[in-house]
Amino acid sequence: MIVLNGVTKKYGKNKVLDDISFKVQGGEFVSLVGEAGAGKTTLIHALIGAIEIDKGEITVDDYKVDSLDYNKIQAYRKRIGIVFQDYKLLPKKTVFENVAFALEVAGYENDFIKERTVSVLKLAGLENLRNNFPRQLSGGEQQKTAIARALVHAPELLFADEPTGNLDHENTDSLARLFQKINEGGTTVILATHNRSVVDQLKKRVIRLEKGRIVSDKENSGYN
Ligand SMILES: Nc1ncnc2c1ncn2[C@@H]1O[C@H](COP(=O)(O)OP(=O)(O)O)[C@@H](O)[C@H]1O
Ligand SMILES: [Mg+2]
Repeated sequence: MIVLNGVTKKYGKNKVLDDISFKVQGGEFVSLVGEAGAGKTTLIHALIGAIEIDKGEITVDDYKVDSLDYNKIQAYRKRIGIVFQDYKLLPKKTVFENVAFALEVAGYENDFIKERTVSVLKLAGLENLRNNFPRQLSGGEQQKTAIARALVHAPELLFADEPTGNLDHENTDSLARLFQKINEGGTTVILATHNRSVVDQLKKRVIRLEKGRIVSDKENSGYN
């Protein structure tokens, strides 16, 4: 479970997050929406422990994310997956190698790495592209590779910040379906986006930010 209580973040005099409180249960799918500058990215950064907040508390399961030391941050990051707008794949590695890489670095055995990597590539619909290099993929396929990479260590929680920001309409739809499938597999998904069609398609919980404040929090909602 994710619990935010009175989370406030300032940049100079600018209150970018202003007294944010909400809870997310395990297995939920939450879209964070709002115009550019509303505070979505800052909130995602606070949730993954990438920035310090000025006031309030953020707890994710047993982790007090607002006050983690370096070692605890590393342990917390192993429990979560993160996807950004910019996929940042390794250009000289294939799809398979890009996804397997995190497990190799963590020192898993080859058989396990292969099995786990093939399984997330299947989930993402990328089995047939496993030997392609990033330059041989469409934008949507590159982002799916980045999502597979974020899932390969089986995180309980997936954070995505504007994952469809660089994609055309068709790719955007197929990515929304992938996030839905990931959530149906039991992973909690927190998706920050200003893409109306993605949110309308999902019909899940929608939290709207305006100028750093929550202005609505609705179940089974479209973008509005
Ligand atoms: N590192 C930073 N330093 C100063 N201001 C920042 C910084 N990051 C974000 N901001 C400001 O915080 C506000 C919210 O930004 P952001 O969280 O990126 O919004 P969103 O993702 O909803 O577009 C904006 O006014 C932005 O200019
Ligand atoms: Mg943003």
